Amino acid sequence: MIKKLQAVFLILLQDAIAQNKMNVFHWHIVDIQSFPYVSKRFPQLSEKGAFNPRTHVYSPKDVASVVEYARIRGVRVMVEFDTPGHTASWGKGQAGLLTPCYKGGKPDGTFGPIDPSMNSTYSFLQALLAEVKDVYPDHYLHLGGDEVDFSCWKSNPRITKFMTDKGFGVNYSKLEQYYMQRLLNIVGKLNKGYVVWQEVVDNGVKVKDDTVVHVWKNQWQEEMARVTKSGYNTLLSTPWYLNYISYGNDWRKYYTVEPLSFIGTSSQKNRVLGGEACMWGEYVDNTVAISRTWPRASAVAERLWSPESVKDPNTAGPRLKEHRCRMVRRGFAAAPVTGPGFCDVEFEN
Ligand SMILES: *[C@@H]1O[C@H](CO)[C@@H](O)[C@H](O)[C@H]1NC(C)=O
Ligand SMILES: *[C@@H]1O[C@H](CO)[C@@H](O)[C@H](O)[C@H]1NC(C)=O
Repeated sequence: MIKKLQAVFLILLQDAIAQNKMNVFHWHIVDIQSFPYVSKRFPQLSEKGAFNPRTHVYSPKDVASVVEYARIRGVRVMVEFDTPGHTASWGKGQAGLLTPCYKGGKPDGTFGPIDPSMNSTYSFLQALLAEVKDVYPDHYLHLGGDEVDFSCWKSNPRITKFMTDKGFGVNYSKLEQYYMQRLLNIVGKLNKGYVVWQEVVDNGVKVKDDTVVHVWKNQWQEEMARVTKSGYNTLLSTPWYLNYISYGNDWRKYYTVEPLSFIGTSSQKNRVLGGEACMWGEYVDNTVAISRTWPRASAVAERLWSPESVKDPNTAGPRLKEHRCRMVRRGFAAAPVTGPGFCDVEFEN
């Protein structure tokens, strides 16, 4: 048996999430560098695209364990398959999926986002997501859509011809829109809901009315006003990128954010479904994930479950300290974020 730390870690993480009354685990399972999701239908995606296809993957059994462990604790698991950008790792196991980039009239050996001009793209996505739909029972799939770089699409002659044929001119947002709409149609037919990152609507892409738009960039008040005015439901993450670390009581700034403090009508405010604390993994693995996330994320949890009037960090501080010690007593390496002090029962490794 190969011991896969990643899956074990994610299972135990659900305890921490539940103990902080968070109710959705957003699992950003694939990205540029690695495709660790083991697909039954397309096993080559992780065979070729994972850091290591034996030790650094999530098997169907691993995923089912995480989902079930979370479910029992009242935590929903929303998985993200981010496309059309952030997909370099997908291309290793699925030839013809990504756009070949051109330089001086020739393919230069590099690849860009998923190729939206190929019908094979959509049949592949349909088959993959039909599998994912059953593996992750939650209503929502996160479909990503962030940071789509148009330069490779612009360089590729077949995409240029496709743009002309479709009457898109040189507006690559229209190409992105074409892609996202086909993707959303696929997911809609699977009876799933969808979440996308804010760039999709920032680029002027018109998506289905029931799309949830996930806000993560600066000037989030203006963005929330825009997104909700367009009629979309929204989730806020911008103020809660916990992977950005700094010295001292940084939880206070997470705690004092008011997610509804944007200009808009009450029906706009009602479109704010909630918020999400993010811990991106570029500089994080299981050696630091718990201490970097907790109890800083606990401050976000209290903010999001509290009325607007409960916002004084001076009264929240002692609660946070107590809760941190509670997590330590339960075996989590939650960090001391409120300053000097001690817990009655200290952490033991
Ligand atoms: C892609 O599919 C569409 C509609 O299903 C069809 O009209 C079109 O000819 C196909 N394109 C190619 C290149 O096969
Ligand atoms: C490009 O297309 C998008 C999406 O249809 C649209 O919102 C935007 O106004 C277009 N931009 C230009 C410069 O025409």
